[in-house]
Amino acid sequence: MSDNVRPESMKRIETPDLANAFIAQQIEEIRNQVKDGKVLLALSGGVDSSVVAALLIKAIGKNLVCVHVNHGLLRQGEPEQVVRVFREEMDANLIYVDAVDRFLDKLKDVTDPETKRKIIGAEFIRVFEEEARKLDGIGFLAQGTIYPDILESDGVKAHHNVGGLPEDLKFELVEPLKLLYKDEVRVVGKALGLPDSMVYRQPFPGPGLGVRCLGAITRDRLECVRQSDAILREEFARNGLEGKVWQYFTIVPDFKSVGVKDGKRCFEWPVIIRAVNTKDAMTATVEDIPFSLLSHITDRILKEVKNVNRVCYDMTPKPCGTIEWE
Ligand code: XMP
Repeated sequence: MSDNVRPESMKRIETPDLANAFIAQQIEEIRNQVKDGKVLLALSGGVDSSVVAALLIKAIGKNLVCVHVNHGLLRQGEPEQVVRVFREEMDANLIYVDAVDRFLDKLKDVTDPETKRKIIGAEFIRVFEEEARKLDGIGFLAQGTIYPDILESDGVKAHHNVGGLPEDLKFELVEPLKLLYKDEVRVVGKALGLPDSMVYRQPFPGPGLGVRCLGAITRDRLECVRQSDAILREEFARNGLEGKVWQYFTIVPDFKSVGVKDGKRCFEWPVIIRAVNTKDAMTATVEDIPFSLLSHITDRILKEVKNVNRVCYDMTPKPCGTIEWE
């Protein structure tokens, strides 16, 4: 049987005990595979790469080298959380790469959504490759591949599908989660002691806020997306909607509208709120958010986010609207 096929006898990991048994077994397998070798991991801070990191830290400690690339398209507080949890709390060997200017320069004036995605993916590989070349003695590459990746996309993580690493950097793969479903990865992450905000976080696209800052990305609109998203997430958490709504975020289009602020005419960006529920992301329904909460979030965005004078709620189910706007 192929290593990439989940045996029918494999129990679903639904309890801490089963998660702990899985962790113990994986630690042994990882140690057998890599021995004293060094393992490299691109740690985005998403559920899968975070769980792989926590597992490998337990198995091989500082022989895991994590690289966190901040491409400037992460949500508010995310790069800081990765550094805090992994470097400070788990004592990981973590390289933090500030690549914000590099990504934003490459994306300057690029309006086509698929070209934006390709640039983000290709630049990510390039930055990661540069970091890998600076390191000595790396023999392995860990990846947060999970079972749906194997079933749906030939085992390639969505944001890594732009060619991969060059031949001379072809490391042996370490993929401890490759037979797990997402809900099982979360149970394992919880058992490894990762914070709930990492383990239960909503899906977030590989190209990040880049596909929510519509058209050509500019720093001022990117800040509008990041700050309005942070307000939305804070209010959803405060009002018990976190974990109840599948995905929620804000979008900032690349056009302005007229408004009035402090008695003066202003011409500024709109913010669109999207909140949807789905089982498999193929179809989605719009969440019925209490009007009073929407009004409160609107007030906060208008008060706290500079250069915004209008807030809208997207009422479109999928189909025909996709979940993301680009
Ligand atoms: P759509 O917009 O197609 O999104 O209804 C379905 C789900 O996929 C996520 N998504 C992406 N994830 N790279 C990703 O890793 C992408 O380019 C991408 N585009 C959409 C989206 O957030 C939703 O959960």
